[in-house]
Amino acid sequence: MTVTIVGSQLGDEGKGGIVDLYGDDADVVARYQGGDNAGHTVVHEGEKYKLSLVPSGAIRGKVGVLGNGCVVNPRTLFAEIDTLQDRGLDPDVRVAERAHVILPYHRILDGIEEEVKSESGDEVGTTGRGIGPTYEDKAGRRGIRVGDLLDPDVLRERLEYVVPQKRAVVEDVYGIAVEDLENPEALDVDALFEEYREFGRRFEEAGMPVNAGQFLTDAMAEGEQVMIEGAQGTIIDIDHGNYPYVTSSNPTAGGAATGTGLSPGVVGSGEVIGIVKGYLTRVGSGPLPTELGGVVGDTPGYEAQGEGENEELAHQIREEGGEYGTVTGRPRRVGWLDMPMLRHATRVSGFTGLAINHLDVLAGLDEVKVGHTYTLDGEELATMPARTEQWAECEANLRSFDGWEAVDWAAAAEEGYEALPENARTYVEYIEDELDTPAYAIGVGPGRGETIVRKQPF
Ligand code: GDP
Ligand code: IMO
Ligand code: MG
Repeated sequence: MTVTIVGSQLGDEGKGGIVDLYGDDADVVARYQGGDNAGHTVVHEGEKYKLSLVPSGAIRGKVGVLGNGCVVNPRTLFAEIDTLQDRGLDPDVRVAERAHVILPYHRILDGIEEEVKSESGDEVGTTGRGIGPTYEDKAGRRGIRVGDLLDPDVLRERLEYVVPQKRAVVEDVYGIAVEDLENPEALDVDALFEEYREFGRRFEEAGMPVNAGQFLTDAMAEGEQVMIEGAQGTIIDIDHGNYPYVTSSNPTAGGAATGTGLSPGVVGSGEVIGIVKGYLTRVGSGPLPTELGGVVGDTPGYEAQGEGENEELAHQIREEGGEYGTVTGRPRRVGWLDMPMLRHATRVSGFTGLAINHLDVLAGLDEVKVGHTYTLDGEELATMPARTEQWAECEANLRSFDGWEAVDWAAAAEEGYEALPENARTYVEYIEDELDTPAYAIGVGPGRGETIVRKQPF
């Protein structure tokens, strides 16, 4: 069977940790979208691993697959594999031949477009990894796929078609001379051919390229268990998120089928676990109705919605939770849990279970609030409006819960759910009831031993 892990909010919900936890019973862990914009943290035997591309299961010796829906930067991928090898691991990573390749000019274009948008305060606050421009080329049928790196003639032909177009965009649309760029070789066909052909050889020598859908289907036919690891989260999904403040892929469960090549029936007959952070964080721009305190440059106009004056509380949660971007190190914006957002996420992905993380971070607060519903134009809404500008107008109707004190979290995790402070259980049960979905796991710390496991999905 499959177990699919989906971020229910804005990314960084603790997906890596849950993949690591449940991945124990999996044979294969496959990513289905995104690229090195992801930053998934796995804590194993006291060691912290921050993974951008290598699927989180690789830390424990599972086969990792980057599905066709991913965008792969071979520089990052090989650097990550090398680093893991230096740390004594031997990750077995396969890459879909159909996955698209992030080339150096994609990063350049990501940077230029953000710069241009920032002149009117409209930047998305991307990770700068070239994700959007690579998916644009995929949709525009001018992308370069992993399989193309394996055939020198095809690679050269594709580069000769696309690179002059990119040069023209840089020079004629944005008025920047290519020679003035920090890395003009990023737009040089010969230089690109040489470097990416070499990556192709390395992929081949390592036996990494696969037909992902076939590979995963064969694995399942042999009785293997497949964990499907989402990156990012529902509200930055290009279809179901707060467009245009989104990433350029589908982190929601539908993406797990298109991005792996397993059929929707296969994915849908497995478990789909929504990962919920017990509060909210956001890196990058866009509305946030329950925001507690803004971050200059990311909070639009630096006027936080919600209880935006609660700078101090936001700071406290940010420090307690170590809420700084795994990829970019940017401080994350902080807010209360948002139920209209979670109702939307639950509907879109059809969660069969939840993992609710970071309850330890909230310990010690007198009260913990949640945005229960919104008010928009005098009307009460239980779920998010589709229009981003309307979402920005939503006022959260907060509910207050009594806080809970910190306990020995590892001991509580060992003992089980009843060892969780009563007020924390009330909070968990409220979320379960509102979403009509059981919490399979409750995170009370970053390590695997700090998770209360109520159900094993495999
Ligand atoms: P991902 O992108 O969804 O995999 O999440 P990130 O790794 O970017 O961010 C989650 C951070 O919270 C990491 O530093 C995790 O180690 C940590 N973490 C995960 N679950 C918990 C939890 O229940 N409590 C605490 N305190 N930290 C957690
Ligand atoms: P994980 O997998 C949180 C955000 C960026 C930006 C927007 C678009 O660790 O949860 P992009 O570079 O993808 O074009 O940026 O999406 N973003 C993330 N936020 N967690 C992530 O990944 C993210 N990946 C992208 O900050 O707002
Ligand atoms: Mg992350």
